[in-house]
Amino acid sequence: MSRPPRPEEPSSVTAQSVTVRVPAKVNVQLAVAGPRPDGFHNLANVFLAVSLHDRVTATPADELRITCSGPDADQVPLDPSNLAARAALALASRYGREARVHLHIDKDIPVAGGMAGGSADGAGALLACDALWGTHASLDELLAICAELGSDVPFSLLGGAALGRGRGEQLTPLEVGGTFHWVFAVADGGLSTPAVYAECDRLRAAAGTDPGPDQPPASTALLDALRGGDAAALADAVSNDLQAAAVSLRPSLAETLAAGSSAGALAAMVSGSGPTTAFLAKSAEEAERVAAALRSSGTCRAVRVATGPVDGATVVG
Ligand code: C5P
Repeated sequence: MSRPPRPEEPSSVTAQSVTVRVPAKVNVQLAVAGPRPDGFHNLANVFLAVSLHDRVTATPADELRITCSGPDADQVPLDPSNLAARAALALASRYGREARVHLHIDKDIPVAGGMAGGSADGAGALLACDALWGTHASLDELLAICAELGSDVPFSLLGGAALGRGRGEQLTPLEVGGTFHWVFAVADGGLSTPAVYAECDRLRAAAGTDPGPDQPPASTALLDALRGGDAAALADAVSNDLQAAAVSLRPSLAETLAAGSSAGALAAMVSGSGPTTAFLAKSAEEAERVAAALRSSGTCRAVRVATGPVDGATVVG
């Protein structure tokens, strides 16, 4: 795996500030095993980074401080539970320094939406602090810190497309033969990821379909579709084992999914643990058409159009 690009890598702690741009993700396959003894679930998690981005700016400060701007900034916790704060503290402790940094998050990724917005901020803050402090951690070290922060954080750093095994943190980069066009319908409010996993377990237990804790396989049809850049084949192969649980907790998502399907989307699915829903379109024009139909459907709060794959966390200033 190559290191995330650092076009303007500062050479020392004299930098005034560092800004990192970091993408959202959609899961094109999310195969979920039964719960492991530690409560997590083994996954075959095929991530695709998409062109909705947060920007994290790290600036020297007297103490660790987090601020956030953007339309949904009021929903972002600014306390030490924020993954950006935890990333700065983890890097500082590894290098025996104090996390004297102001992290500003310019938020464009839906909050608690199943698009890894919190994970993006963790990966972004980690790369920004590494550049600001001149710690120059290796990619393996950065990925290890990311995995401690959360299951999706390593992918936010890496970007592109990747298969995540285990909790989703054991990444294998994937080849993608084209650009895919997506529409995202943002729901009102978020869904708690642990609650969605618990609901998935509950539904399976009730139906007697718990698959057991072993590692699920990745879909070869899906990996072939990604490699071939074939949107129709990808649409046939996408799957999300958390979808039934997300819809069970938020039944109105079924209407959003139906609105996108009847507008001609090739595939309609819940993004990760939701409640954002994701629609694959065959072209940029089709994506705009599906987006317009979703906007006028009254079944979601906002609609965003994006493409993927895109780069992971990148220093931009
Ligand atoms: O790793 P992360 O902190 O993002 O996970 C949040 C929650 O999602 C976990 O506490 C767990 O309930 C659930 N989870 C899981 N299996 C995974 C990833 C997440 O059960 N592979």
